[in-house]
Amino acid sequence: MSERPRPLVAGNWKMNGLRPSVDVLRGIASGVSAELRDRADLLVCPPATLVHEFADAARGSAVKIGGQDCHAKGAGAYTGDISAEMLADAGAQFVIVGHSERRQYHHESDADVHAKALAARRAGLVAIVCVGETREEREAGKVLEVVSAQLRGSVPKDSTAAELVVAYEPVWAIGTGLTPTVGDVAEVHALIRAELGKILGPAEQNQVRILYGGSVKPANAVELLRVPDVDGALVGGASLAAADFLGIASAYTS
Ligand code: 13P
Repeated sequence: MSERPRPLVAGNWKMNGLRPSVDVLRGIASGVSAELRDRADLLVCPPATLVHEFADAARGSAVKIGGQDCHAKGAGAYTGDISAEMLADAGAQFVIVGHSERRQYHHESDADVHAKALAARRAGLVAIVCVGETREEREAGKVLEVVSAQLRGSVPKDSTAAELVVAYEPVWAIGTGLTPTVGDVAEVHALIRAELGKILGPAEQNQVRILYGGSVKPANAVELLRVPDVDGALVGGASLAAADFLGIASAYTS
């Protein structure tokens, strides 16, 4: 059996946070125990306006900083957009691409997400590619079909585990307090692992981190993070408070 990937606990702050929120980041950074630092990677993805300040504040700590989206192009006449190069320049090391909120509200297709993942690589960022079914798709029994198609369309074929993370976020579990059963999470994560084998080949398959996201809280973190093929979490609401985020990450030290 190959060695398990190093876990990643990532916070997606979405459209939350003003400059004083750097205190939350400092609280997270100072709350990381030596044991946790040893066992898992921590990442905070604030809004783009805070990436630079957060990256400065996190320097030397166990916490890395990421963006929440990027444009596929490096530069150009794209008013309001931010390139992967700009995020890297501001101190980001990761970028989330294809979050369901981007797919839904900005009509991003798998092809768009694929292009953004390539942009992340070009800029030296790790791409966190998000996939996940809607409630209607789950009720129609289409979870595996939907997630496989998203993966095949969104993950660049020659990605390595060093530049790619996949996040499974069932849309109906985001911000709702609902979570799939551990059996359902295990089934989808096993499917993702198998699909990654087909897309990337056997050498990378087992090394890519597959995160679970959707209503992860300190109270359910141990249960969710112990599911086979769950290599960490992508946390929304509970990443906005240092104690909650650290409480989730402490699943790796308990
Ligand atoms: P919640 O943890 O608030 O459900 O959000 C999950 C998410 O969308 C993270 O990207």
